[in-house]
Amino acid sequence: MRKKMVCGNWKMNGDRASIAYLLGQLLSFSAIPSSAECVILPPSIYLPLVQQFLINSTFAWGAQNVYPEDSGAFTGELSAPMLQDYLCRYVLVGHSERRQLFGEDEKFIADKFYHVKKHAMIPILCIGETMEEREQGLTMEVLTKQLLPIKETGDRPFANCVVAYEPIWAIGTGKTASPELAQEVHHSIRRWISAECNQEDAQVLTILYGGSVTNENANALFAMPDIDGGLVGGASLNAERFVDIVKCIK
Ligand code: PGA
Repeated sequence: MRKKMVCGNWKMNGDRASIAYLLGQLLSFSAIPSSAECVILPPSIYLPLVQQFLINSTFAWGAQNVYPEDSGAFTGELSAPMLQDYLCRYVLVGHSERRQLFGEDEKFIADKFYHVKKHAMIPILCIGETMEEREQGLTMEVLTKQLLPIKETGDRPFANCVVAYEPIWAIGTGKTASPELAQEVHHSIRRWISAECNQEDAQVLTILYGGSVTNENANALFAMPDIDGGLVGGASLNAERFVDIVKCIK
């Protein structure tokens, strides 16, 4: 069966006090449906704090980034074994902010993807097109270019991973993709993986939608057959709103 999931990507927000408050609030909303995996992705420096709060809860957590080497002279970076020390289960890979602001290319993203899996964590691979590319009818071409290097990383690259479709024009803009538009793309992604990689893996692959998900639009998005949950940025910084989004998973 496909795992339903909602992930909160806190990006570079919060401080020790506000994050402790947010975690306490999340824990006080006990009615998280057990049918959904609920994942917190904090700024990495707060992973010990997140672990301390969430260790005996149903929440999972993970990192927003990783460097694809186990150790060495990589000033400022964090390795997969370091993330495992804090029991991270998931790692974001290929987020559009990393692609655009930090120049991460397809090869580097594929290296990270491979590395996360090698260390028995689950990569959440983000893919998505710009508005310009969408208007030119290039959406699937762009997504295929982002998926192809991942295909080369192993025999069954899409086993034990999560894909997040995040149209760049919808991230942090308040412009959500309509449920129908998102469903169409999710279906195409699943079909591509089924045809190019492995049919079974495509069937059980969790494909999240991301880009201005709120407690107001989550219900309609998550009702679509190929949308298995959400990757939530802004709205995940408010515990009540985030839990309301999680409750939209049926
Ligand atoms: P948003 O961010 O929900 O604030 O649009 C989503 C993301 O970047 O993962």
